[in-house]
Amino acid sequence: MKQSDRKLCIYYNHHHYTLLVVYMMWLLSMNIVVLGIRIPDRIQKDPKDEVVVKTAVFGLGSFWRSESVFGCLDGVVRTAVGYAGGSKTNPEYRSLGDHAECVKIEYDPRVINFRQLLEVFWSNHDSRQVFGQGPDVGNQYRSIIFTNGTEESRLATLSKEREQNRLKSSIVTTQIQPLGPFYPAESDHQKFELKRNHFLLQLIGNLPEEELQSSSLAAKLNSYAAELCPWRTQKRLDAKINDIVRKGWPILQDL
Ligand SMILES: *[C@@H]1O[C@H](CO)[C@@H](O)[C@H](O)[C@H]1NC(C)=O
Repeated sequence: MKQSDRKLCIYYNHHHYTLLVVYMMWLLSMNIVVLGIRIPDRIQKDPKDEVVVKTAVFGLGSFWRSESVFGCLDGVVRTAVGYAGGSKTNPEYRSLGDHAECVKIEYDPRVINFRQLLEVFWSNHDSRQVFGQGPDVGNQYRSIIFTNGTEESRLATLSKEREQNRLKSSIVTTQIQPLGPFYPAESDHQKFELKRNHFLLQLIGNLPEEELQSSSLAAKLNSYAAELCPWRTQKRLDAKINDIVRKGWPILQDL
């Protein structure tokens, strides 16, 4: 965590070796506690989970980023990245054929709906970009919405028309397709932003891969790590995490 690094730096600069030793011991004890305890994913006990979750799949550029765009939203229960929209069976990262990099979002329809997810989709990428997204070049980064049923198809088409009107002369390239097979990507690519942040991984108790992939908390923190939570949420999580660090209470169970 950045703040911890800063602390460490200050301790060095001022030659406060005693404080440094105390700090190192605290870090060590934190590791011991963290490694010793596994926190069951809270969502499993949450009565909310009894509701039938719905699924949405979108492609909007690199799926590392796409997963982070949606993971922090209220009502999003789980996220995963994978390949969809093409014809190749069993695509892989290095040979995904005609598929797009996609995020699969499981959500509680009582809290967030497909229309709201579409708004997040449009506002988090440039639907005018051809053959790529941002710095990423290639057909795998295309803008694409998958729909399940006529109502979703209608909402997607309507939202695309609205986007086209808003952008006037530029052409919205976004494809709309009925949802076909979604092939989950290799585990290296799941919660990619969170996995780069060892401090946050420790903070939730170094969950095994399977739990990490199904965890709502991990989905949130994956967004937080990429600083892609809605602004207010990002600030709230910052405060909460800093508070936990200050108290030396090493396990985060809920956000
Ligand atoms: C598509 O919608 C139907 C009806 O709402 C649902 O039963 C089914 O699980 C959905 N399929 C996917 C892949 O989400």
